[in-house]
Amino acid sequence: MANIKTAVIGTGFIGPAHIEGIRRLGYVDVVALAEENDQVARQKADALCIPQAFGNYRDLLADKSIQAVHICTPNFLHYEMVKAALEAGKHVVSEKPLAMNSKESGELVAMAREKGLQNAVNFNYRFYPLVQEARQKIAAGEPGKVRLVHGSYLQDWLLFDTDWNWRLEPGVGGDSRAVADIGSHWCDLLTYITGQKIVEVYAKLDTIVPSRKKPKGRVETFTGSGTGDFEQVAIKTEDTASVMFKMFNGAVGNFMVSQVSPGRKNRLYFEIDCERMSFVWDQENPDSMWIGYRDKANQVLMRDGSLLSPQAAAFAHYPGGHPEGYPDLLKNFFDRFYAPIAKGTPIKTGELPPYADFAAGDYEVRVVEAILTSNKKQAWVSL
Ligand SMILES: NC(=O)c1ccc[n+]([C@@H]2O[C@H](COP(=O)([O-])OP(=O)(O)OC[C@H]3O[C@@H](n4cnc5c(N)ncnc54)[C@H](O)[C@@H]3O)[C@@H](O)[C@H]2O)c1
Repeated sequence: MANIKTAVIGTGFIGPAHIEGIRRLGYVDVVALAEENDQVARQKADALCIPQAFGNYRDLLADKSIQAVHICTPNFLHYEMVKAALEAGKHVVSEKPLAMNSKESGELVAMAREKGLQNAVNFNYRFYPLVQEARQKIAAGEPGKVRLVHGSYLQDWLLFDTDWNWRLEPGVGGDSRAVADIGSHWCDLLTYITGQKIVEVYAKLDTIVPSRKKPKGRVETFTGSGTGDFEQVAIKTEDTASVMFKMFNGAVGNFMVSQVSPGRKNRLYFEIDCERMSFVWDQENPDSMWIGYRDKANQVLMRDGSLLSPQAAAFAHYPGGHPEGYPDLLKNFFDRFYAPIAKGTPIKTGELPPYADFAAGDYEVRVVEAILTSNKKQAWVSL
């Protein structure tokens, strides 16, 4: 059987991670990429050993042999690119956020449904084996009702006023920065694990670094502080957020988000307190999970397929003690996205897929909007 042909649009930080994840499947070929112009496209295609390079993504979409595309460009481009890809009949994996606002994301949900194409948003943290284990245990009822959900997502890569990225410009990144960029991952993950949607929020957002030095040259994500010529720019989006929330089943929670916490690189951390058990997990140490009890000794569960439920073990590919991490998430995700296409039975409209679909992406856009509204009004806001 011939391999599926796919393509990636945008190859800065996360685009090449998608390419690596896709290649590890073995049954999907990355046959093309698109970049912002012909020169960058050619350079990237040569560096990544991809046959076709396009300086305009619409030319890539015109290739009928390409069945799916991954949208890995800055946020403001997602809506137009996803829309064009669906119009061209491609299955679509979009980076988060799905769009800049819920009007656009809602349109994309409706369009993907109407076209009957597979659609996904890269909420990759769902695909850790121990995240799956917590989810399985809660779904099976052993811990009892979920009562408290709390934690944080902290980074330090925008700590200094010399740190710059397109995410700092609302027209390119959106009206929310820290919440949309990383808070949305936290909310998606905790919604996924607990099976409970966030239905009400109360938020306080702060801009800790009010003015930054914007380099006059080009800067890619996570490439460090600028050193050359710059212009001083006032910052309009949040560096940090503190959010309280209520979930559908009555559980309550809170989380802190920050892109200015020294020493915290990508620390997505949560605690879920249920009636009989608690779960604590940290993305920077993903191969162990603390499980707390009242009536017996607490446990530290290591990621070892032989110790996990069969559902969670399916996400672990190496024996315990052989660390797995961030790149494995994309492999796990893409295998679940492409396997139905490879079998000739794409996931149909209305079926709940084993990944975040556009509806889940649209819901996270709405959570972010509710957080922005709550911050403005200093009041609880319902979703
Ligand atoms: N899910 C995750 O864990 C995760 C992690 C990082 C980034 N992201 C998301 O991925 C997206 C990209 O982020 P990044 O950090 O890789 O940014 P980046 O700036 O490193 O890369 C963006 C790339 O898009 C290219 N691009 C810009 N305009 C284009 C156009 N018109 N056509 C084709 N390519 C174009 C740029 O040249 C660049 O190579 C964002 O939406 C971000 O939120 C998600």
